[in-house]
Amino acid sequence: MIYIQSMKAKIQVFPSILAADFSKLGEEAKRVEEAGADGIHIDIMDGHFVPNLTLGPKAVAAINRSTNLFLDVHLMVYNPFDYIERFVEAGANRITFHAEATESIEDTINFIRKCGAKVGLAFNPETSFSMVPEFFHQIDLILLMTVHPGFGGQKFMPEVLEKIQLTKEMIDKLKLKVDIEVDGGIDEVTGKQAFQAGANILVAGTYIFQDSDLSKRIASLR
Ligand code: DX5
Ligand code: ZN
Repeated sequence: MIYIQSMKAKIQVFPSILAADFSKLGEEAKRVEEAGADGIHIDIMDGHFVPNLTLGPKAVAAINRSTNLFLDVHLMVYNPFDYIERFVEAGANRITFHAEATESIEDTINFIRKCGAKVGLAFNPETSFSMVPEFFHQIDLILLMTVHPGFGGQKFMPEVLEKIQLTKEMIDKLKLKVDIEVDGGIDEVTGKQAFQAGANILVAGTYIFQDSDLSKRIASLR
């Protein structure tokens, strides 16, 4: 049976700052806040786990000084454990790391908690998470990548929709309150598909920042 999420479930929209104007990150963060976003998604890339480099803790601290919004830090780095403390000190409210990037998912989860942030666990489109339901009760969020991580502006991969449904079914079966976030190629159409499959947090970069009226784009995703 195909799972279709009730339209009553609440959608949260997290604009990805990767698509903002980097010459004025603080102002962009403020603009996102005024446009009614639920938080800001910040992509951290190390040039190894993904073939691109982005921001470090200093930039996250600058964003944090400019906004009161929840900061959702997405680590696309190897050895995420080594960077957790610095990003939490910089203002990260949730740290999401990739299951593929660490030797110990458990230690990384525990350390994020110890540092006082919420915990997210991310999966690349091709990664099967059949081995990790044991971690589901220890985390706040599962991030299912809907593109290959590394760059904004890519096309949504519809094959991930089935994984979203399976994840939602598993979470409901276990009676857990774990958010499902999707990231990559999200727009008005794909956002709705991901939501209907079970996702409740939509990350969108290109789609939101393409329009000078951020609030219109954010509202269209809800
Ligand atoms: C991709 C990043 C995304 C990216 C999404 O590796 O994790 O957060 O910013 O950008 P769009 O919405 O342009 O696909
Ligand atoms: Zn991201």
